[in-house]
Amino acid sequence: MSVRIRHMLRSDVAAAIALQDRVYRSIPPFTPDQFDSLLGRFPDGQFVAEVDGKFVGMAISLLVLWDDYSLHHTWDSVTGSCEFDTHDQNGRTLYGAEVCVDMNYRGQGIGHALYEARKKLCCAMNLKRIIAGGRLPGYHKHATRMSPEEYAKRVIWGDLHDEVLRFQLGEGFNYCGILHGYLSTDVESIGNATLIVWLNKDYDPSLPTQPAPPELFKERP
Ligand SMILES: CC(C)(COP(=O)(O)OP(=O)(O)OC[C@H]1O[C@@H](n2cnc3c(N)ncnc32)[C@H](O)[C@@H]1OP(=O)(O)O)[C@@H](O)C(=O)NCCC(=O)NCCS
Repeated sequence: MSVRIRHMLRSDVAAAIALQDRVYRSIPPFTPDQFDSLLGRFPDGQFVAEVDGKFVGMAISLLVLWDDYSLHHTWDSVTGSCEFDTHDQNGRTLYGAEVCVDMNYRGQGIGHALYEARKKLCCAMNLKRIIAGGRLPGYHKHATRMSPEEYAKRVIWGDLHDEVLRFQLGEGFNYCGILHGYLSTDVESIGNATLIVWLNKDYDPSLPTQPAPPELFKERP
């Protein structure tokens, strides 16, 4: 199986919405206008994974001024309630707003390829880090017995499995705690999320943010 990562095009929006609709039980997909906002503001940050020409995954990102959000952010505060007008070209933090892979294609490295694309972009633009609010889709099965903090600890020390947190730890992200009330429509995570961070070791604060090089990924919107 060969996975191709490329930039998202406007012609991908219907497939992107259909994928989010299949993947999420309770979280509504982005609207065409919300995708339009992302592609207009930050086309370099939107990636698609294709297998044999089929749209099987995506990673959505924006740039933020992290000091505006820091410890107590929510999905609505960091994405402007999904309008993405919080994207700031001067931001030094790449914020991972969405990653998903078709259920029939998981466990084959597609999520990894999308995360690698994000890291490559982060380094090429001289950004300091990638931050995200990570879902905890397995938490609802344990919520009557433990807090999300305890659930996350048990996933980290290997006694419980969570497909999202385990994957993100495997990608080298650090767990920084639980964000309560992050996204109310995420019933599987009971609204909670993990705060996760990956640092760009090559970040140079003396240099400005660089434009993404045109040759980074071949196709562009
Ligand atoms: C999180 C998600 C994107 C991961 O996508 P994925 O394509 O399954 O990711 P990968 O295949 O790269 O990695 C998943 C696991 O498969 C393993 N794997 C990858 N390639 C493999 C292969 N060829 N053979 C065996 N295992 C493999 C990885 O090591 C990883 O294991 P780990 O989780 O124990 O570390 C996917 O589960 C998903 O879409 N979830 C629902 C949406 C969601 O909640 N997104 C998160 C928003 S915060």
